[in-house]
Amino acid sequence: FQKKGPCEQMTQTKIFGHRGSMGTSPENTLLGFTHAIEMGVEGIECDVQLTKDGELIVVHDETIDRTTDGTGFIKDLTLKELKAFSAGSKFSSFEQFDENRWSKEKIPTLEEVLQLIAPYNIELNIELKTTLFPYEGIEEKVLGTVKQFNYSDKVIYSSFHLPSLLRLKRLDPEAKIAWLLMYRLSRPMEYVSSLQLEGLHLHKDLLLRGHYDPPVEHLGYSIRVWTVNQEQEIAQLLNMAHVETIMTDFPQVAIAFRAMC
Ligand code: G3P
Ligand code: CA
Repeated sequence: FQKKGPCEQMTQTKIFGHRGSMGTSPENTLLGFTHAIEMGVEGIECDVQLTKDGELIVVHDETIDRTTDGTGFIKDLTLKELKAFSAGSKFSSFEQFDENRWSKEKIPTLEEVLQLIAPYNIELNIELKTTLFPYEGIEEKVLGTVKQFNYSDKVIYSSFHLPSLLRLKRLDPEAKIAWLLMYRLSRPMEYVSSLQLEGLHLHKDLLLRGHYDPPVEHLGYSIRVWTVNQEQEIAQLLNMAHVETIMTDFPQVAIAFRAMC
């Protein structure tokens, strides 16, 4: 890319920080979201689950074993119990190591995340982790929390679990819902229109390996791609005009590439 820069043309592609900036900061923490915002992302992606006492908490896995110094299923722990653990002490990175700062990070609630990002007016992609456990009432709670911050216009709700998205849409017909896909979907337009999807969130390989036919013209839905970390892949996707957003663990790399376009 030395001669031409990574892009063949100017790009409007947005960059979202995946779980904050999980390549350089502990995932799904306020510190990680802050770093992503400082890097200049247009949005952040986070994962939401429900605690034993019905609180919305931002964690990727159904257990806290991988990302914290605690153990157990989120559904079996109260917010107070979860807040006792460090969400940063297990994190390691090739970049600067700041164990003192990271180990103080706690698992954030969705409310705390909204509190942090709302002043910046950036987009927020809330992924509902409802595939394994149904987390009864999670859709109502997520909508309610977003409304509390008057942030509905900036939020995209996504999930692998389609029933969760359809429930959200029934509860709030204005909600922007996007289906997460790892596999090829035949006739995507028919799904988009019959399910009233705002977008499709595609695994990067569906585009990079040509398993998704790019629309010939603008089809009225957003294509966001995850999780794109390699420079070569970031460059390839920046060149695809129909890609609205790239989600990455390394927002600063993607933003630097885009700046060369
Ligand atoms: O939303 C895109 C991406 O986050 C989905 O996969 O496993 O990282 O939550 P995962
Ligand atoms: Ca996610």
